[in-house]
Amino acid sequence: MADPKRRPSQFFARKPLAMLLEEAKGENRLRRILGPVQLTALGIGAIIGAGIFVTTGAAAHDVAGPALMLSYVVAGITCIFAALCYAEFASMVPVAGSAYTYAYATLGELFAWIMGWDLILEYCVSSATVAVGWSGYFQSVLAKIGLHFPAILTQSPWRYYPGLGNLVSTGAVVNLPAVLITALMTVILIKGIQESASFNALIVGIKLAAVLFVIVAGAFFIQKAHWHPFAPYGWTGLSVFGHRVAGQVDGGGHPVGMLAGAAIIFFAYIGFDSVSTHTEEAKNPQRDVPIGIITSLVVCTVLYIAVVAVLTGMVPFHKLDIGAPVSMAFRTNGLPWAEGLIALAGVAGITSVLLVMMLSGPRVFLAMARDGLLPKKTFGEVHPRLRTPWKSTFLIGLTVAALSGFLPLESLLHLTNIGTLLAFVIVCAAVLIMRKKHPEAERPFRCPWVPVVPVLGILTCGMLMFSLPAANWYRLGGWLLLGFVIYFAYGRRHSVLHQENCRISGSLDPDPSC
Ligand code: ALA
Repeated sequence: MADPKRRPSQFFARKPLAMLLEEAKGENRLRRILGPVQLTALGIGAIIGAGIFVTTGAAAHDVAGPALMLSYVVAGITCIFAALCYAEFASMVPVAGSAYTYAYATLGELFAWIMGWDLILEYCVSSATVAVGWSGYFQSVLAKIGLHFPAILTQSPWRYYPGLGNLVSTGAVVNLPAVLITALMTVILIKGIQESASFNALIVGIKLAAVLFVIVAGAFFIQKAHWHPFAPYGWTGLSVFGHRVAGQVDGGGHPVGMLAGAAIIFFAYIGFDSVSTHTEEAKNPQRDVPIGIITSLVVCTVLYIAVVAVLTGMVPFHKLDIGAPVSMAFRTNGLPWAEGLIALAGVAGITSVLLVMMLSGPRVFLAMARDGLLPKKTFGEVHPRLRTPWKSTFLIGLTVAALSGFLPLESLLHLTNIGTLLAFVIVCAAVLIMRKKHPEAERPFRCPWVPVVPVLGILTCGMLMFSLPAANWYRLGGWLLLGFVIYFAYGRRHSVLHQENCRISGSLDPDPSC
């Protein structure tokens, strides 16, 4: 017969909810200063950025055509499934760490590690992607006033050409604007969240004004003829590990079509999840974090669909600019003054995304370090006066600067998408498991229609993952492998939960790892 006092395997050991809530009261915590409006602003600040301002051009031009409007609907619905699951967890487990913490409470330590490690990838690589997008917009603004960076300092030394299947030298040495903006953001973030949240609110205002301007002013220039053909690349675009399953492929063998477009512009929605990493700084997390997550996502979904409808109506999709499609659409329609204004707002908007993305990564590190899975001295320390996780913020700043300085946009973009989609799949699965294992737990916010919503979340995120080029699966696999090495070399031995479980079970369960 099984010994009832026997501990579960360390890999599946779950952090009890009561323990999480108790920890939230302890020392070394962040300040609770964010209300629902600030949290929603942080969400919008993280969502609207390089995705809509930059990647929309290439996605409409090369992958989906005007049907990109529907790609935004599909990606938006996918995110809403995931957001409802995030919101339930954020209200149940109101401490920092986001999906990492949820996984620890439901799926056990190993899955929590995978989730945390994956989130670090998401936030670091998406920050780098955004920094590269920012650099492009910033340079186009400078060019308007006749200023130019030396060519060797304007982009990454390599570009990935899908047709050739490898990296090709660009002749540049480093993307200096991307490195500089990353450094500036790192300093702002180390200074403190209060300053960061106010700075973010200001930029979000500018960004929303610009997006509304694009929709309202652009609507006067829509020509319905530009929406025909509506889906020139077809309605699907699915491949599994590089093998076509449905729809067409481009010259490089990558899927194209409405669904393939959704997998690419999914990037534009990333960010709502970062609201949940600020749970510990929320004044009333149970109520305000779900509000922040869902409101920011719904607002952005509606705006995005409108922007893409306007853009593809203003300019034939095959003439849309790849680098700065929004400002270019206004130039083409004889409004050059609007072009400059939008480019400026684009820079401001992308800056706020970078700020929130870089704010989120260190908070995941912080949660992992508190659990002993990463060294506390480096990743778990909160600055005594500034109350920010300054060491991990600095480390992430350094990593993002290196990635954005030397890697091309496309590689960073795809990797961000696949990493984030994996995180969403795990969160949706965790909601299902938690409802089954702990039906009694208090849930100030309940995801509606369980199990339908989480299951649809898993299926739609999985579908988008399979719509990405196969190389991304291998890169994601490589990152997770590195994570396992670190977990087995360090985290497993230093896990606070494991040590606590060993202490409780004592000699009843001799285990060499105790
Ligand atoms: N959603 C963010 C952006 O579009 C990452 O820049």
